[in-house]
Amino acid sequence: MAKPAAIAFDAYGTLLDVASLGSELANLDGAARQRFVALWRSKQLEYTWLRTLMGRYVDFESVSGEALRYAMKSMDIGEKEFDSLMDGLRKIHCFPEVQSALAGLKSKVPRLAILSNGTPGMLTSALEANGIQGYFETVLSVDAVRRYKPDPRVYDMATRHFRARPRELLFVSSNGWDICGAASCGLTTAWCNRSRATFDELGYSPDIEVRSLDELAGKIDLVMT
Ligand code: 2OP
Repeated sequence: MAKPAAIAFDAYGTLLDVASLGSELANLDGAARQRFVALWRSKQLEYTWLRTLMGRYVDFESVSGEALRYAMKSMDIGEKEFDSLMDGLRKIHCFPEVQSALAGLKSKVPRLAILSNGTPGMLTSALEANGIQGYFETVLSVDAVRRYKPDPRVYDMATRHFRARPRELLFVSSNGWDICGAASCGLTTAWCNRSRATFDELGYSPDIEVRSLDELAGKIDLVMT
């Protein structure tokens, strides 16, 4: 396996810690907040898939708002926290190792990008809030193709941007289904499996598996020549 020409990163769940959301809900205890955030996230993803199948694209900010309303209704949370929760999503925290991992990776592979469901506005605001925008030469958003991952047109955006063959690109995600989508388009993949999850049975497996992003630079040295 050759050294990648560029690395594209998924954003939510991979660089940005979705589980850190929901701190605005002071009335919920830790376990209830975790349940709430997990429901918000699972509905958010489900709606991206459904809307893509239905041919009814609305952007990720709207999808996130729709999923949030569902989660709030289903857990009887009053609507008054809606705006502050959405604001929290715009400033979502990155995982603690992200900054140093990006610095290490960039010294090996200078061309880094984001490839995400997020809107350009949401992504820019989250990258800026965490001071990591300078690592990326571009932010590729599904907004340009109006279809969500794992539609092949999304991963093709990275191939086109870098003018590379799919195999020359390394795609990094903590979402197993997202790794399968990228692998199905021929990209080399690295699965960041922080929670020791079981990989999806969709006919693909990641080329590299790490427990956190700071292991990735070393793994690239090991498996790539
Ligand atoms: C992202 O595209 C899948 O939410 C994930 O950033």
